[in-house]
Amino acid sequence: MTASEALISFAHGLPKAELHLHLEGTLEPELRFALAARNGIPLAQSTVEEVRATYDFTDLTSFLAVYYPAMGVLQTADDFHDLAWAYLRTAASQGVVHTEMFFDPQAHTSRGVPFENVIGGYRRAVVRAQAELGVSAELILCFLRDFSAEHAMSTLMEALPYRAWIVGVGLDSDERDNPPSKFAAVFARARAEGFLLTMHCDIDQPGSIGHIRQVLTEIGVDRIDHGTNIVEDPELVALVTERGLGLTCCPVSNSFVTEQMKSDEIVGLMRAGVAVTVNSDDPAYFGGYVGDNYVALAEQAGLDETDLVRLALNSFAASWLTPARRADYVGQVEQYAAAHGVPLPA
Ligand code: ADE
Ligand code: ZN
Repeated sequence: MTASEALISFAHGLPKAELHLHLEGTLEPELRFALAARNGIPLAQSTVEEVRATYDFTDLTSFLAVYYPAMGVLQTADDFHDLAWAYLRTAASQGVVHTEMFFDPQAHTSRGVPFENVIGGYRRAVVRAQAELGVSAELILCFLRDFSAEHAMSTLMEALPYRAWIVGVGLDSDERDNPPSKFAAVFARARAEGFLLTMHCDIDQPGSIGHIRQVLTEIGVDRIDHGTNIVEDPELVALVTERGLGLTCCPVSNSFVTEQMKSDEIVGLMRAGVAVTVNSDDPAYFGGYVGDNYVALAEQAGLDETDLVRLALNSFAASWLTPARRADYVGQVEQYAAAHGVPLPA
């Protein structure tokens, strides 16, 4: 089903939080060329079309094989600022009023870029977004799960002087043979240092269900990234529901790294009362920012405006905002729905 112009415009203007967004996954080919020129880095491709032709992903591993080499153009604090700023402007144009953004410091420090360039540039964009766009933004430091637990722990130590700029920690990259339990000590230390916790439980991974159980029972996370494989185990659905944990789902991304958007799983969980949210993951690679993801899911699953309001309310419920700020954003969503004559979800 194709969405009407009215639904597309409603979806894009709806105030929302984005909670699953990799800053390095917002590197559009145009900016990559500009940064390569600025830093004197030769690239194998010379046109945007040639770059997009390499985006031939069939699973998470084939995506990551393109994603990491592309980051080589990011070197200075200005580069990291420019990347985040470009995302924040686009996000604002698609209704994002609050965002909690992942960054992967080890993908940069492991190639000799100082940690302070990464965090310094990103922080500058965060401050600027509040001042110039009225968008509130937070940073979540993700550890690369295909690196060692020791490397993650030393990255956590490196981050401690910047504690005030980082709201939480996450876990991403290749899940195969890298279960959550590998990082139990790192996450326990992060918790003790006052960080909130989330972890990727990517879609249809070998051991998905066991990994989600570890995340819930051994790690004790505050949110789960993806995680829709819980539908295979009613006990996990019950645990997630009882704890009121948010799932940060990424329908367009799912359709690149698996066969489908997983719309049945996302919408089924939403209707069952789980705080599922819709997000863009790596929009430069999957071709859709967050508003586009709301529209894509609506088209695939036949959602109406009230369903989209539910997803926006969930995005604030699952966010790491203070209760007062969350209530303020919920009020904005309710006002937006009322102004469009859209009934609130039951
Ligand atoms: N890094 C960037 N995007 C990712 C994803 N969807 N899953 C795991 N690691 C990632
Ligand atoms: Zn992700």
